[in-house]
Amino acid sequence: MFRARLNHAQRTGMQVADYQSCVHLFPEDGSDMDAFPADAQAFVHRFFPTVARLTAQGFEGGPTIKGQFDAAVVHVPRSKQLARHLVNWACQLAPDGIIYVDGAKTQGIESLMKAVKAITPLMGVVSAAHGRLFWFHATGQFALWDASSLREIENGFKTQAGIFSAEHIDPGSAFLADALEPLSGHIADLGAGWGYLSHHLLSEHPVSSIDLVEADHAAASCARLNCDDTRAQVFWQGIDSWEAQKSYDHVVMNPPFHEGRKGEPDLGKAFIRKAAGILKKKGKLWMVANRHLPYEETLSQLFVDFRAIAGDKRFKVLLASGPRNTRL
Ligand SMILES: C[S@@+](CC[C@H](N)C(=O)[O-])C[C@H]1O[C@@H](n2cnc3c(N)ncnc32)[C@H](O)[C@@H]1O
Repeated sequence: MFRARLNHAQRTGMQVADYQSCVHLFPEDGSDMDAFPADAQAFVHRFFPTVARLTAQGFEGGPTIKGQFDAAVVHVPRSKQLARHLVNWACQLAPDGIIYVDGAKTQGIESLMKAVKAITPLMGVVSAAHGRLFWFHATGQFALWDASSLREIENGFKTQAGIFSAEHIDPGSAFLADALEPLSGHIADLGAGWGYLSHHLLSEHPVSSIDLVEADHAAASCARLNCDDTRAQVFWQGIDSWEAQKSYDHVVMNPPFHEGRKGEPDLGKAFIRKAAGILKKKGKLWMVANRHLPYEETLSQLFVDFRAIAGDKRFKVLLASGPRNTRL
């Protein structure tokens, strides 16, 4: 979509210089980066699978980046606070350059544009493909939008802007925590977020170890702080690429699903597949899901037995045992 808006802008007379260097903040795809006219393109992203994909495509970048660039492109994420943070960060990375901001209407580009315009004049704007692209001269006036510092929420948990459930404990995860029987042995927490479930297990259950796997670099960093315990190890990884070094007695998870496409359970199914692959023969999977998400068929394919052990109008907690194709 960025490509479509950029093409539209160029067709309608926008002057995009041939930049020597450009940094993209939170690009979805390498093809978006290729579309921009710059000799060298770097990126900032904190979601592990995206970082791995862009790196494999030959782009340089990661969750942080050093250097100064001639231009920066902000690919607007869903979180309003994170989007503002990225605008300020872009201005720091290209302090003498032009900042391009691109996003879909559903991602709040309209209100972000209004907020930017209230602080500094825009040089141009195009509307196309259900979104907008606007640009302006970098300025230090967005310093108040910096959201890199940690925040403390209930029970002293540390979180950061843009991570899952940054403002409060997720009600689905709390529902799962309440439904758990006492767990012991080696545990894996897949999609661990800022570490709520693991913290609960470390404090209330007789566990030997917990491995937390989380794709969002900022969430993984918070999880390290929230689960500061010698039994816990946090992996910044996507579940597809993470290679477990042992087999587990239990897996706990509150798997993600695409919010944009309601009820899209593919991600959750991939999590179930991973859980089945890393559990011991007698290992158990404990998962919470939104009531409407159809995970039962996948569970019945990958586990000998499964049942719902708790539920309400919003959530269900599923317990599956006897993983098929286990390694032990
Ligand atoms: C519904 S949240 C649950 C977070 C946490 N368990 C909690 O209770 O607060 C799902 C988490 O999975 C992470 N995630 C999404 N895709 C992932 C992937 N491919 N590999 C690992 N983690 C992923 C998200 O960043 C998010 O933190």
